[in-house]
Amino acid sequence: MNIVIVGRGNVGGGLAALWRKAGHEVTALGRGGGDANGADVVVVAVPGSSISAALGGVTGLAVKSFTSGPVAKTFNLNFASLYDQIAVQRVRPSSFYAADAAARDITEELIIDVGYDPVPLGGLDKARGLEDLAWLLFAAMKDGAPVFYRFAVPGEL
Ligand SMILES: NC(=O)c1ccc[n+]([C@@H]2O[C@H](COP(=O)([O-])OP(=O)(O)OC[C@H]3O[C@@H](n4cnc5c(N)ncnc54)[C@H](OP(=O)(O)O)[C@@H]3O)[C@@H](O)[C@H]2O)c1
Repeated sequence: MNIVIVGRGNVGGGLAALWRKAGHEVTALGRGGGDANGADVVVVAVPGSSISAALGGVTGLAVKSFTSGPVAKTFNLNFASLYDQIAVQRVRPSSFYAADAAARDITEELIIDVGYDPVPLGGLDKARGLEDLAWLLFAAMKDGAPVFYRFAVPGEL
C-alpha cells in the first residue's frame, strides 16, 4: 500500500517504521508539507490544533472535513515509545477504531500491520465517543504507567 503520513514525530515516525517493515511504501511529511497524490491512504498524526494547518500544506488530498474522502479514527493506550514492544507481546494488544464503511478494510489492515488487533466501534459518528473513552482508559492506567491491553470476548484467550 502507498501510505502518506502527515506528521513524522513520535506517532507518525513510529508508524512509518512499522508499516515499512510490513512492506508498505511510506512517505512521512512534516511542517514543510508535501504531495499526497497517489496515496491509498493518508494518516494524520499531528496535534489536534495543528490538523487544519498541516492538511493545508498537503496537496492531492481528499479528507472528509475538507472534501469527501472516507475517514477513520483509531486510538489505543500504547504510547509511541512502546511501538517496538508490540510484536513481543504474548497476545496482540487491541486498538479501537471508528470508521466510515469505505475506510474500514484499509483501517483494519493497517492496524494489524503495526501489530494490533483492530476493535471496531462503529461508524465515524463514534469518533467523539472514542475521544471520551480515551480519558477513561488513561484513568484506568495505574500510577500513570502505559500498559498494553487486550479487548477479549469470553473464551478467546
Ligand atoms: N506520542 C504518543 O504516544 C501519543 C499517543 C496518543 C496520542 N498522541 C497524539 O498524536 C499527535 C502526534 O503526537 P506525536 O507524539 O507524534 O507529536 P510530535 O512528536 O511532536 O510530532 C508532531 C508532528 O506534527 C508536525 N506538525 C506540528 N505542527 C504542524 C503544523 N502546523 N503543520 C504541519 N505539521 C505540523 C511536526 O512536524 P515537524 O516534523 O516538521 O516538526 C511533527 O512531525 C498528538 O496530537 C498527540 O497528542 C500521541
